[in-house]
Amino acid sequence: MPVITNIEDLRVLAKKRVPRMFYDYADSGSWTESTYRANESDFRKIKLRQRVAVNMENRTTATKMVGVPVTMPVALAPTGLTGMQHADGEILAARAAEKFGIRFTLSTMSICSIEDIAAHTTQPFWFQLYVMRDRDFIERLIDRAKAAGCDALVLTLDLQILGQRHKDLKNGLSAPPKPTLANLINLATKPRWCLGMLGTRRRQFGNIVGHVKGVGDMGSLSEWTAKQFDPKLNWGDVEWIKKRWGGKLILKGILDVEDAKLAADSGADALIVSNHGGRQLDGAPSSIEALPAIVDAVGSKIEVHMDGGIRSGQDVLKAWALGARGTYIGRAFLYALGAMGEAGVTKCLEIIHKELDLTMAFCGHTNIQDVDRRILLPGTYPV
Ligand code: GLV
Repeated sequence: MPVITNIEDLRVLAKKRVPRMFYDYADSGSWTESTYRANESDFRKIKLRQRVAVNMENRTTATKMVGVPVTMPVALAPTGLTGMQHADGEILAARAAEKFGIRFTLSTMSICSIEDIAAHTTQPFWFQLYVMRDRDFIERLIDRAKAAGCDALVLTLDLQILGQRHKDLKNGLSAPPKPTLANLINLATKPRWCLGMLGTRRRQFGNIVGHVKGVGDMGSLSEWTAKQFDPKLNWGDVEWIKKRWGGKLILKGILDVEDAKLAADSGADALIVSNHGGRQLDGAPSSIEALPAIVDAVGSKIEVHMDGGIRSGQDVLKAWALGARGTYIGRAFLYALGAMGEAGVTKCLEIIHKELDLTMAFCGHTNIQDVDRRILLPGTYPV
């Protein structure tokens, strides 16, 4: 077993252990993948100011996200098909998150269902909603999340149509994988994954199959999205969903200042600056580049969170310094899950927390609440 010291180690191990179709699904962006790459590389352009001879004892990264106390400003992002990176993946990730004192967000497109997560955890989790044409189904989903004790709803606004990811089309992405010769050959090289999958009954979209009339099998994700997701979604629907839900609402997928203002006016509790991990509009700015202008425009009216490109605790601190009051990790925890299951996700959170804590100390702070743009070297960060 290799010694794991950073998120890249987990990615390398996941690539060995997870079938190509699902590894590629996580590790890809749309079209040229330039936005996907920029999410990471723009973080690296930002330089930190090292301070010395400052008392570094008794440090804390604790804060609140939409009022929920968390041990660091990080949540697990909603990611589709998580239970295909590892058998029972969503349950394992949710458990690791609750043990660490942060929130797990369950995707609508998860393998394990809302009820399944509730049955296997003791803390509330968050639920991410995609709006489909079938509004009765959406109402039922919202009610199911409420009944499961979810304490925030994350409404995704940037995926009513699906960005084209070349690898998914080439791999014929489907859950479970179709038994083609290419898939069988690839699966034969992933014995751990196969054993895990043989030991679970969770191999389909748990929130959907059996809950939507006529949907027994989803075929390909892109076909299903094109058929079921509602391209008419608009701000009027946001109002309707907010009312139906009645709890904390987080709007995900904001990248433009004009949309950020509409999000603030909607009365939502938080927005997530996000380009969907570079999986939707390739050519859009990186999330960290878009963040400062949105914080300046609406940060006093609505809590601003961000996701996209976070592969270390340093990235979390940079986003925090630029005004994000919460961040989400997607791929970082998916790699960890694919590599080592629940222990991998715990490892991922330990790595990120340690990097965050040490970086904060190197920058001369013991409490994350005192950290702001002044820890960044002027001229190296977006404004
Ligand atoms: C779904 O959220 C996706 O990005 O594939």
